[in-house]
Amino acid sequence: MKWPADRILDSSPKSFGMYEVAMPLMAQGIDLIHMEVGRPDFDTPAHIKEATKKALDDGLVHYGDFLGNLEFREALADKARKTNGLPAAPGEILVTNGLTHAAYVTCMAAIDPGDEVILLEPYYPQHINKVELAGGVVITAALDRANGFRIDANAIRSKLTDKTRMIALVNPANPTGRVFSREELQSVADIAQEHDLLVMADEVYEQIVYDDNVHTSIASLDGMWERTFTHFAFTKGYAMDGWRMGYVVANEKFIDGLLKVSMNDVAHVNVFIQEGGRVAVTDSQQCVLDMVSEDKRRRDLVVNRLNAIDGIRCPAPEGTIYAFPDISSFGVPATDLAVDILNQTHVVVESGGFYGKTAEGHFRVCFGAEPYARIEEAMDRLEAYFADRSVAKVG
Ligand SMILES: Cc1ncc(COP(=O)(O)O)c(C=O)c1O
Repeated sequence: MKWPADRILDSSPKSFGMYEVAMPLMAQGIDLIHMEVGRPDFDTPAHIKEATKKALDDGLVHYGDFLGNLEFREALADKARKTNGLPAAPGEILVTNGLTHAAYVTCMAAIDPGDEVILLEPYYPQHINKVELAGGVVITAALDRANGFRIDANAIRSKLTDKTRMIALVNPANPTGRVFSREELQSVADIAQEHDLLVMADEVYEQIVYDDNVHTSIASLDGMWERTFTHFAFTKGYAMDGWRMGYVVANEKFIDGLLKVSMNDVAHVNVFIQEGGRVAVTDSQQCVLDMVSEDKRRRDLVVNRLNAIDGIRCPAPEGTIYAFPDISSFGVPATDLAVDILNQTHVVVESGGFYGKTAEGHFRVCFGAEPYARIEEAMDRLEAYFADRSVAKVG
């Protein structure tokens, strides 16, 4: 791939947002309450660890199948059929190093230089590098901010050109916490089919939905299996972020292309952790339900406490581990406010600006990375911070 030098500079890794801003304070040993990073604070359930240790002790230590262990893929295909409504065969699963790798492999396999990829904004920033590494061009289409960041089909249609190749969506959505309805997904499906586009669906939060919300895989809608790369991972639902394990589910016609990238990239995923993954999907899902129930308790705490602060409006997220409060009434750029909050309270929240300009005036507040008592402490500090409005007037 030949890029001009400035293009390579433009494509430098995107920052890690407020985590990066907080690093000097962490280096000084200051105890920060982290509500910016999106990692679960639960331990991986014991039975998953045990199965993995056993696999190692049983000698599952040699090269394996490039797509992933067959028994594991059989279990994943079964799960994809029963839970997600995808007509997947074991040969239509590629096990990857987390969802990050699933997205990378998909972008490298499916995007040609010059292809345009539409990201729904507020977007998941890590998609940008992957599209650009494949030589693609990121085009953003705003979600409907005035309507709780619903999908706006007209905004997508207005961004279509003859170079559009793919629409990428995250559902449940990071950073907004929306769980897209069937009707919203159908509007994307209609566009994809009318214009013969691919869809990349990041469904890493599939299990983390609250109240009556239901997660729907866009690939389960009529005509979408043929054009969708669906990405799942063990990262959030099973608290296995450090294990690095996810998978792509896609029509068999795409598998050779995906395999060509992943084989040359990592050969295949570590074989004994796949045994832990197999047990995770085939054993009881009670551990997931328990974690989601604790996430909901934390969500309610954060939403209630933020809404009690004068000037903040925080709808309850329908899924994920993120609240997305509107802080625009303070009239201060979100990043300035987040930096001041960090310095004054040692609570780290993410600035909406990290997710594109549509998210300006918002914070993303993760309630999944700290235990309940620490979140309570963070909310006490934020309440005190905003009670002193003179402190909030920064920038
Ligand atoms: C939307 C989304 N996709 C992907 C990831 C990364 O997943 P993984 O750790 O499995 O690579 C995250 C992590 O926060 C995420 O929020």
